[in-house]
Formats: sequence, structure tokens, C-alpha cells
Amino acid sequence: MHQFIGAGVAVTGSGSAAPSLSLDNVGLSQIVETSDEWISSRTGIQQRRLATPQETLATLATEASRSALAMAEVEPQEIDLIILATSTPDDLFGTASKVQAELGAVNAVAFDLTAACSGFVFGLVTASQFIRTGVYRKVLLIGADVLSRWVDWSDRRTCVLFGDGAGAVVLQANDRDRLLGFELRSDGSQNSCLNLAYAGQPRSLVGEHAIAQGNYQFITMNGQEVYRFAVKRVPEVIEKALHRASLSTEDLDWLLLHQANQRILDAVAQRLKVPSEKVVSNLARYGNTSAASIPLALDEYVRAGKIQPGQTIAASGFGAGLTWGAAIFQWGR
Ligand code: UT7
Repeated sequence: MHQFIGAGVAVTGSGSAAPSLSLDNVGLSQIVETSDEWISSRTGIQQRRLATPQETLATLATEASRSALAMAEVEPQEIDLIILATSTPDDLFGTASKVQAELGAVNAVAFDLTAACSGFVFGLVTASQFIRTGVYRKVLLIGADVLSRWVDWSDRRTCVLFGDGAGAVVLQANDRDRLLGFELRSDGSQNSCLNLAYAGQPRSLVGEHAIAQGNYQFITMNGQEVYRFAVKRVPEVIEKALHRASLSTEDLDWLLLHQANQRILDAVAQRLKVPSEKVVSNLARYGNTSAASIPLALDEYVRAGKIQPGQTIAASGFGAGLTWGAAIFQWGR
């Protein structure tokens, strides 16, 4: 295999896809006891897109990927690696290969990566390692989730928060390394704050042999704990990643946080002293789309001409695990 030691990384294209149907807060208040006033003031969310029975993780991920590849002017068969960051695969054995086949990315190896709402940032760093070592030159990174499958639609504390969607970026070997710094963290001691857990019932097979068989349960979350964790840990990890990049918050053009709650976005920006006009936000229309939220928002700002080539972005994901991380990168080659 050819080695291209010292290759830098560039993010050369983005794409996104969201289900066709949206449900607003007034509609939600017909399902659980809530109100537009409560949801808007506590979260900033006004509506969310929900996948219809015909829309799957693979269809959304494939649509987002096609537009990212088109923007990067890369053909599917040129892709070496596909990483699909998701917690809601169509198939527990993985959905990345399905997307590979749909795209016709015949030369790509494909696998899923699970790190909940941190999945896109963890995937960005993972993909970059393959490029930096020179093993691969063109990587498609997708963040996609269909959390509506796992939401308890009778639990108003969680069902108002989540939505479905997909975002994708193309990463390419580049003379200039545009990934300037990163920091990834996990704390499993707080695992019980946010779960989509498997629960099995004991079942005897033969003799002493018994196994546990069951299903995944609905999402459960200690919202206040996760809120506190995010507001404390996200600024820390961004500062660490900035330090590694020899940059400070004043050097940032955009703060691109996981779109969980507008109050979290505002609090993190305030702690970092980043003015609100530099804070990327589209959660009012999509809710929390987990691994999709960062690339979905990135794509929207790129296509609107707000994020410009060469601008410096701090992306930060946080969520179940608990996991959190930040990556500082410049958009484009
Ligand atoms: O992507 C993973 C990361 N996840 C997150 O970042 C989520 C982080 N947490 C949050 O964003 C917030 O904690 C929530 C939005 C989930 C909740 O906001 P909060 O300000 O922490 O509300 P709370 O849980 O303290 O609840 C306040 C009140 C409670 O009533 P009482 O006990 O004070 O009478 C809740 O029962 O609001 C009630 N409540 C609701 N009322 C109307 C909770 N959910 C609702 C609702 N509609 N949907």
C-alpha cells in the first residue's frame, strides 16, 4: 500500500437530509401534557422532523452523503472509507455498509461508530487519523440518527427534545492540515444519566445454560444532570482543543455545538466569551438530532454562505456515555 506520511486533513464538502414531515410544539401538546411556551422557553425548540415509516437511517444518510460528495466533487468510487456515526442503526450489525452499497462506493470500507451525540466529533477525529497516517485519502463521514424510534412518546421530559436527521462531510488528504486541534473525553461513571439500554429476561436453554433475551428500552435521561455536565465540560474541552491548536477563543469564527438546547448553547458561549452572532444554531427547526446535529447545522451555514472557506470553527459534541469532545478546524481546503 502507498504511504503518504504527513498528509493533512481538509473538510471539502457537506450535505444533509431531514425527514419530510415536521411536528411543531402545538402538535406535540396533543400527544403529551406540554405547551409551546414551556418547550420554546426551556429549550428553544419549535419543531422537529420525524422519519416516516418509509424513511430509514440508511435513506437519510445516503441522501446527505450524495450532496456532500457533489459539493466536494468526489465520485462515490473514489471514497476509501465511510464512517457512519449513529446510535440508531437500521441493523445492529451496522448500517454503514448499506449506505456504501446505495452510494456505489465500491472501493470503500464502511463501518458504524457509536458515541451518541458526540459521534460526529469522535468520527471526525477517527477519520482524520486514517488520512494523517496516509492510509486513506478520501473519507465520507456521516452523522445520522432516528431517535424517534426510541423515544417514549408518553414521557414529556424527553419526547419534546429529539428529532431525526442526517449530515455528512467529505474529508480529504490536503497539503495544509485544516484540523488544528482536538480533545475527546469519556466518563462512564455517569453512564446512568442518559441511556438507551438493553434489558433482557433470563431464559434457560439447556442444563445450566441460561441467557438473557429482550429488547432495547426507551431513552431515559436525567436532564438536569446532563445540562450541568454540558455547561461545565464543553467549555473546558473547547479550551483544551484551542490550546492544542495554539489558538484562543478570539480566533474563532464559529462555535458549532451539538444542538441540544439553546440555553446550553448560550451558556457555553457566555463562558467562552464568544458573541452570539458566532454561535451556530438551527435547533429551533430540528430539535436534538444526536449525531446528525453538528453536520446538519454545518451544512446549513455553509450553503447559506455564512461559513466561508478558511474560517475557523470549534465543533463540540456531548452526550450519552457520558462522552464529549471538541475539534478545531478550518472549512475548505
Ligand atoms: O443530546 C444529549 C444531551 N442532552 C441534553 O443536553 C439535555 C440537557 N438537559 C436539558 O436540556 C434540560 O434539563 C431539559 C430541557 C431536559 C429540562 O429543562 P429543565 O429546565 O432542567 O426542567 P426540569 O427537568 O427541571 O423540569 C422543570 C419542570 C418540572 O416540573 P416540577 O417538578 O417543577 O413541577 C417538570 O415536570 O418542568 C416540568 N416539565 C415539563 N413541563 C411541560 C418537564 N418536561 C416538561 C414538558 N412540558 N415537556
